[in-house]
Amino acid sequence: MTVYTSSTLDVPSTSNIPKHVAIVMDGNGRWAKSRLMPRFAGHKRGVDAVKRTVQACCELGVEHLTLFAFSSENWRRPPEEVSLLMRLFIRVLRKDVEAMHRENICLRIIGDTTAFEPELQAAIASAQELTKDNSRLFLNIAANYGGRWDILQATKNMLKSNPELANNPDQISETDLSRHLCLQGSPEPDLFIRTGGEQRVSNFLLWQLAYTEFYFTDKFWPDFGKPMLLEAIDSYNNRERRFGRTSEQIQPPVANVRQSAQ
Ligand code: IPE
Ligand code: IPE
Ligand code: MG
Repeated sequence: MTVYTSSTLDVPSTSNIPKHVAIVMDGNGRWAKSRLMPRFAGHKRGVDAVKRTVQACCELGVEHLTLFAFSSENWRRPPEEVSLLMRLFIRVLRKDVEAMHRENICLRIIGDTTAFEPELQAAIASAQELTKDNSRLFLNIAANYGGRWDILQATKNMLKSNPELANNPDQISETDLSRHLCLQGSPEPDLFIRTGGEQRVSNFLLWQLAYTEFYFTDKFWPDFGKPMLLEAIDSYNNRERRFGRTSEQIQPPVANVRQSAQ
């Protein structure tokens, strides 16, 4: 298994194509409302945007894609909307997982799935089992996920698996905790995208976003696809990722570059 660098312990290697993209897929309701359609129509069209985005990531060579589908706070929505969303998850998992498998995509659901009805839990288990050895794209769907929940469950599991740490809290390292987070085994996201115009994290990957580049767009999620992903990657390529260092440490002085070219 590849061991990825922690952005706070080491400086990760970067490239023009982000290795890991994380997206808050927001704006389905407003997309539908602006067309005088029910909110759920926006969620359905949001699934098409997911498929386009997955395809684009495969084509561009993005290796990890994490999509926020349902937050731990989304249970606060009207029960009819929550129930329709659960039906939609089940339908997509059953209908589209074969195609994902053929595309060599490894699907993982991150979040507290124990809260889901048995039918959805079964669909999740069989989709994960079918695709577990695939490696073209690691697709993480965050469902009943919250960044705070993730840190808390990691803390509990760290102490359960290593009880002596409870008596020696000063020995607890970042790595002890991070190996129990949902995305252990994935690099930290290079690029965070949020559609729908809001500029907030909404309890997404709180730990993992430490040095991620943020990109916000007013466009609604159902309109997302390869062109918008490329716009986000373009913006990402204009950032200087310093990871705490100075600009001079990253870019050699122009004079030196000229001298070495002579
Ligand atoms: C995101 O779209 C999808 C989920 C949270 C499930 P929204 O449903 O939040 O759409 P808006 O923000 O109300 O437009
Ligand atoms: C964030 O969107 C969660 C998902 C996209 C699944 P929300 O629509 O729930 O976020 P807030 O409530 O506007 O912050
Ligand atoms: Mg929203």
